[in-house]
Amino acid sequence: MSTQIILPRVLQVGEGASGDIAGVLASLGCAKPLIITDKMMVELGYAAAIQTSLADASIRADVFDDTVPEPTISSIQAGVEAVKNGSYDSIIALGGGSPIDSAKAIGVLGKFGGDMRDYKFPRIVNEAGLPIIAVPTTAGTGSEVTRFTIITDDHSDEKMLCVGVGFMPVAALVDYNLTLSLPARITADTGIDALTHAMEAYVSKKASLYSDSQAIAAMRLIGPNLRRAYHDGNDKPAREAMMLGSTLAGIAFSNASVALVHGMSRPIGAAFHVPHGLSNAMLLPAVTEFSIPEASARYADCARAMGVADEHESDAVANAKLVEELRALNAELQVPTPAQFGIERAAFFDLLEIMAEQALASGSPNNNPRVPTHAQIIDIYKQLW
Ligand SMILES: [Fe+2]
Repeated sequence: MSTQIILPRVLQVGEGASGDIAGVLASLGCAKPLIITDKMMVELGYAAAIQTSLADASIRADVFDDTVPEPTISSIQAGVEAVKNGSYDSIIALGGGSPIDSAKAIGVLGKFGGDMRDYKFPRIVNEAGLPIIAVPTTAGTGSEVTRFTIITDDHSDEKMLCVGVGFMPVAALVDYNLTLSLPARITADTGIDALTHAMEAYVSKKASLYSDSQAIAAMRLIGPNLRRAYHDGNDKPAREAMMLGSTLAGIAFSNASVALVHGMSRPIGAAFHVPHGLSNAMLLPAVTEFSIPEASARYADCARAMGVADEHESDAVANAKLVEELRALNAELQVPTPAQFGIERAAFFDLLEIMAEQALASGSPNNNPRVPTHAQIIDIYKQLW
């Protein structure tokens, strides 16, 4: 059986990569980009830096900075209008996962119209929107190298997973310099998200030798460096490893899918506005423990790649150390429990049925090595309390 691998056409990787944007645009034949970002990127001067480096090549770029965290259908509407009414030939998506996910949706909706709900999974979106040049500033969602976007339906609060080559950026500029100013909390949340991508891609039923290779490489980079980047944001070697690890993890899960953690995480995020990486972090130890019996060799490989178990240790020992490590990581990175985050216990328990349904409907739990029933998903949610 063969596996189809989908990647951006250009990956510019390493210190200063974002400064090469004019050359990358030219190589793609694009000359009129719209920068889609958020207010923070404007405040930090990142949007202006991109504009300046484009201006040096006589390219003028407008900025749309109205994207929001965890984008919704209504939050992207103004961006869709900007694309419809402008004559842009490309989009520069600058920021964390939310601006990049917003840009992907805007690129497709702005070109083809319709309602975002029309594009949600199980539909596979092959229509390419405006070409996207992604410049991630977190390490990260991996959105710069995935064919996914997640947009929340304002009415139902459902986090809609949208899938297809139409959402794949044509280029990604992976510049760890842009992560040096990330606060510790965001470093932790996005870093655990990247670790989750690598682990889920590796244990996914859709894993291939190709995605395995990316996932293992990602875990080797992320495992020893996440704590370092969290404690010292200016630790450049740690930031560099996290950035590349995040991109490789993105490549792994874009081609092997995520699994139960992400399936269960999206409903928590949608209902209680928990940042994506944080809800993953809350779930990762419990879901790993649940899944190990059906994939003990695979999870043991994860433990060894992350550097928490030795090559000579048995799978059982490695698995025990993995679960212990995931709990220790959450403690050290100060990941709150749902209660500590401020979620009301009664509100959470009231929504268990619906969250479990949404998790199953997303399709992600089916990729898990141990496919849970509706009741087992509810059990895992309850373990978070
Ligand atoms: Fe994720």
